[in-house]
Amino acid sequence: MSFAALWESLLPVGRDGGTGGYRRFSWTPADAECRRWFFTTAEKRGLRAGTDRNGNLWAWWDPPRIADPGAARPGAVVTGSHLDSVPDGGAYDGPLGVVTAFAAIDLLRERGQVPVRALGVAAFCEEEGARFGVACLGSRLLAGAIEPDRARELRDRDGTTFAAAMTAAGQDPAAIGPDPDLIAGIAAYVELHIEQGRALADLDAAIGVAERIWPHGRWRLAFTGRADHAGTTRLGDRRDPMLACAAAILAARGAATQEGALATVGKVSAEPGAVNAISSSVTAWLDARAPDASRLNGVVERVLAQARAAATAQGVGLDASQESVTPAVDFDAALRDRLVATLAGAGIRAPVLPTGAGHDAGVLAAQVPAGMLFVRNPTGVSHSPAEHAEPGDCATGVTALAAVLADLACRD
Ligand code: GLV
Ligand code: MN
Ligand code: MN
Repeated sequence: MSFAALWESLLPVGRDGGTGGYRRFSWTPADAECRRWFFTTAEKRGLRAGTDRNGNLWAWWDPPRIADPGAARPGAVVTGSHLDSVPDGGAYDGPLGVVTAFAAIDLLRERGQVPVRALGVAAFCEEEGARFGVACLGSRLLAGAIEPDRARELRDRDGTTFAAAMTAAGQDPAAIGPDPDLIAGIAAYVELHIEQGRALADLDAAIGVAERIWPHGRWRLAFTGRADHAGTTRLGDRRDPMLACAAAILAARGAATQEGALATVGKVSAEPGAVNAISSSVTAWLDARAPDASRLNGVVERVLAQARAAATAQGVGLDASQESVTPAVDFDAALRDRLVATLAGAGIRAPVLPTGAGHDAGVLAAQVPAGMLFVRNPTGVSHSPAEHAEPGDCATGVTALAAVLADLACRD
């Protein structure tokens, strides 16, 4: 099947008719539809598919039976990405890697290439952390990078726990946790992803190879004040948490500028949320990313110090907590060089780039040689319905991934 037909088959799932953005949150009906799409796509290809104990999806192209049953089984090569989205996300962030994986398998088969080791396609659960707050939750659980008890208790905005959402979707939350056998069976993981910036466009290249991921994390700042009447409460008598929150948001921008980093407050919730009432509480989520850990710490320390000062000045409380932190990831240098060389052999010039975006490949990199391919994004816009990649570049992505899989999985 062509990339275009496969792409079109997933495109309507979870798309909001009003915004054109995607709302594919884990363990929701849209997520269930994505999972069905994955299994149907795998089944049509005769791949052995299933869900692991952490809600991640796998489809395997097994190698022909090994003549000597006593011989050690060579480690698998896995590719893939994720199918969940941020609120009103774009079509490409995640799904491009999964669709391209199946299309690359189709291309290998058209060319008569057969793997000598297992070739897997993975779609990781809750990569965006859009529903339960911790990014790359499925790969973190698999790799043992988060305590299962903590994951089970994560709550969405309605108070539903990850465990309850999983149970409602028919999966057992008691089983979540590290899967060292699955990890030990993987020799390499290569994730293809839309680029979430304009570097490839500036370099006039359709495909890039990841060098490293900036350290990044999420912090929750909960300000508690006193609800009161907007039309009668004197300014001097107010304990307005919104003012302290506003100071923290501006501090984030200032700190990021000073440290050469990035900091964003993209989500704020105010209670009780009345136009004519001072808020009783305001919660803001800080997303911070920097080229190194010391600049990341610098950003967070500055923001927290200014948030505390503003809270004191406004007479409100502040409870700040870290939701997740991912240290810098340097992708496996040998695999990275091999990807660049393989692509060059296929006639594809692929510059090596760092990124500030987090990925399951970054989590798995702690335990498995991991690498990434990026597909050019002409505007660089991502986490938005405007995210886009040209069909020609997606086709080059399929060719590139097929070349990489042929090299890693189809040769002794
Ligand atoms: C994942 O897209 C991230 O937030 O970096
Ligand atoms: Mn994303
Ligand atoms: Mn992604």
